[in-house]
Amino acid sequence: MAETTLRVSKIKNGTVIDHITNGHALDVVKILGITGRTGGIVTVAMNVPSKRLEVKDIVKIEGRELNSKEVDKIALLAPHASINIIRDYVVVEKQVVKLPAVLKGIVKCANPACISNSEEPVQPTFYVERGEPLKVKCHYCGYIMEKQDVLKQF
Ligand SMILES: Nc1ncnc2c1ncn2[C@@H]1O[C@H](COP(=O)(O)OP(=O)(O)OP(=O)(O)O)[C@@H](O)[C@H]1O
Ligand SMILES: [Mg+2]
Ligand SMILES: [Zn+2]
Repeated sequence: MAETTLRVSKIKNGTVIDHITNGHALDVVKILGITGRTGGIVTVAMNVPSKRLEVKDIVKIEGRELNSKEVDKIALLAPHASINIIRDYVVVEKQVVKLPAVLKGIVKCANPACISNSEEPVQPTFYVERGEPLKVKCHYCGYIMEKQDVLKQF
């Protein structure tokens, strides 16, 4: 019988980001600053058939857990993603990302005249008006940004 499966190493300790909206695996890799030059297994899978979504992307990273800012950035692009913490080869914790209602210090306002882009120490703040497709509104100037505008910053 022809070989139809390919074994990919499990990670011992790290994070599996599953159910990523297809097309966004590389954005997730970028958000996490992964270059692949620092060792540790990194597996990226795209357009994988899924029960829950039609197709999904997956990113598996050895030796890495995520902070809340990283999780919020991932939620902007992949609101259905689940974060699985792997310890000693097994999933010990599963967290479904949640898009916060208010984003503080996650994205910058694309309006150059916005006060949050001036010298003032003002933390950029956005209200999430819609999750998918993404639409966020600047607290200071009302400027609306969509997923493509946010993606440019990551
Ligand atoms: N040690 C590991 N190395 C790499 N990937 C792993 C490891 N353990 C689990 N995974 C992957 O992590 C994801 C979550 O694993 P889990 O066993 O919880 O699957 P599941 O029951 O399908 O979860 P869900 O209900 O979230 O889809 C799956 O994509 C699985 O293949
Ligand atoms: Mg599953
Ligand atoms: Zn603004």
